[in-house]
Amino acid sequence: MSSVNGAAPVGIFDSGLGGLSVLRAVRAQLPAERLVYVADSRYAPYGQRDDDFIADRTLAICEWLAAQGAKALVVACNTATAQSIALVREKLALPLVGVEPGIKPAALASKSRVAGVLATQVTLRSERFRALVERHAGDLRVLCQPGHGLVEAVERCDVSSPELVALLRAYVQPMLDAGADTLVLGCTHYPFLDAAIRSIVGKRMTLIDTSVAIARQLERVLDQHGLRAPEGGIAECPRFCSTSDGTHLRQLAAALLDIDTAIERVAIPSRRTLELDANAA
Ligand code: DGL
Repeated sequence: MSSVNGAAPVGIFDSGLGGLSVLRAVRAQLPAERLVYVADSRYAPYGQRDDDFIADRTLAICEWLAAQGAKALVVACNTATAQSIALVREKLALPLVGVEPGIKPAALASKSRVAGVLATQVTLRSERFRALVERHAGDLRVLCQPGHGLVEAVERCDVSSPELVALLRAYVQPMLDAGADTLVLGCTHYPFLDAAIRSIVGKRMTLIDTSVAIARQLERVLDQHGLRAPEGGIAECPRFCSTSDGTHLRQLAAALLDIDTAIERVAIPSRRTLELDANAA
C-alpha cells in the first residue's frame, strides 16, 4: 500500500531561493501542511541553461522529493514549469502544481491595455508562454522583458542595492514609457524585488504576483485527491534543503519569512550535473 497520505509533506522546488515566495503563500493558505523545500542553488540560475539541462534537473529533483515521501509537488519555478512540467507529469504519478506568468490576471487588471512581463529568457521563449499569451491576453499588448541579472541578485540576497535598482529601472522604464500600467512578475524570485520595483514605478503599475493563486490551486489539488493534512494542526517548521551550502537560503528565509532554521545540504545528482561536475573536476 502507498505510504502517501494526508500527513505526508508537500514538496516545493525552485532553481534557488525564488520558490520561497510561493512557500510563504502556501504556509499562509495551508498552515497544517508539512513542507519540504529544495533550492537547486548549486545549479541556479536556470534561466540561461539549455532546455535539456532544465528538464534533467526538474525531473531529478521531483523524483528526489517523491522518494522523501512527498504527497504532492509544487514546481515553484516558472522556468522549470515552462520547460519541463509536461515531462514530469508523464513520469511521476504525484499530483503536481506548476507556476506560470500571470497573463490572465494582468488582462483583467490593466486599464491602459498595455502590460509588461518580466521573466527569464527560457520562460519567454517557451511554447507554453506563447500559448498562455494567445489564450489569455486578448486585446492586451504584452511587452516582454528578460530579467537578466535579477535571479543572480536575489540569489546573493541583494534586493535593494543601487546597482540592482538601476538594472530594474532599465527594464521597467521603457514599459512605463509605452503606457504599461501592469507588471507581471513572471519569475518566483521577483516578488522579493517588489519594494525595489515600487521605488521606481510608485503607484503607476499594478504588480502581478501569482503566489497566492498557486497556494489556492494546491489546496484544490490536495482536496481533489483527498490529501489534505488533518484539520486544525499547525505544521512544524518546513524542512529546507539546498544543493549548495544553504547560507543564502537561510539568510533569505530569516529576513523574509521570519524563519531561522538550519538548512540541509543535499546531493541530487542527475545525468547533466554528473557530466558538468566531472568536467569541472
Ligand atoms: N524562480 C525561477 C523562475 O520562476 C528562476 C529561474 C532561474 O533560475 O533563472 O523562473
